Amino acid sequence: MTNERGGARPGEGLHPTLTFLREWLRAPRSIAALSPSGRQLARLMVAQVPRDARRVIELGGGTGAITRALFDRGVPREGLLVLELNDALHRHLRERFAGVQVVHADARDLGGVLRRTGFLEAGPADAVISSLGLLAMPRRMQREILEGAFAALRADGCFVQFTYGPFGPVPRPLLVELGLGVRRHGVAWWNVPPAAVYVYRRLRPRMAAPARGR
Ligand SMILES: C[S@@+](CC[C@H](N)C(=O)[O-])C[C@H]1O[C@@H](n2cnc3c(N)ncnc32)[C@H](O)[C@@H]1O
Repeated sequence: MTNERGGARPGEGLHPTLTFLREWLRAPRSIAALSPSGRQLARLMVAQVPRDARRVIELGGGTGAITRALFDRGVPREGLLVLELNDALHRHLRERFAGVQVVHADARDLGGVLRRTGFLEAGPADAVISSLGLLAMPRRMQREILEGAFAALRADGCFVQFTYGPFGPVPRPLLVELGLGVRRHGVAWWNVPPAAVYVYRRLRPRMAAPARGR
């Protein structure tokens, strides 16, 4: 097998889907999907990323289906930071995308990762693309992840999330608390299972509700 630069791919040599399935059997709640994101879903997710994006953060890179689509969208290799919590999938991503910053970390610690890597030294992120199982997370965890992401984003930056559920995964009270707006961008019907893509942005300050104390 080769990596995305054409070099030999070290490691186990398992097909990405098999690696994914094996990790799902080990930790179904954390992996939060039965199969890697399909091409249609990956394209829908990255369509929100500005063509001239310089810095993009991916949360939960998994097998790299969306990472690959981000490069196809034109995001420069040095302009991508990927966080992956699962040990085997983190290793897989590092091997597949040699030279890309792939960090073995919890998305809740995005702030710490950014400090350690200096990824935003030249400016804020244009977009955060998330494959995390946000829908199944407790609200406290959703809040931590969204706060971290929006602290990293430029004022008009977007947080893109897919879900298998019939509604957006972030409950309305949390959106109001964080001053965020949401738009359903589309549905990847050919994905297994079909998935809807939601785009979150800051509301203009005058429309945002004051943040509540925690
Ligand atoms: C739905 S899967 C990934 C789908 C991915 N787009 C693909 O095609 O393989 C979600 C990923 O998020 C990772 N993950 C779950 N919780 C995480 C967390 N708190 N921080 C970072 N990654 C996490 C999982 O290990 C898994 O790889």
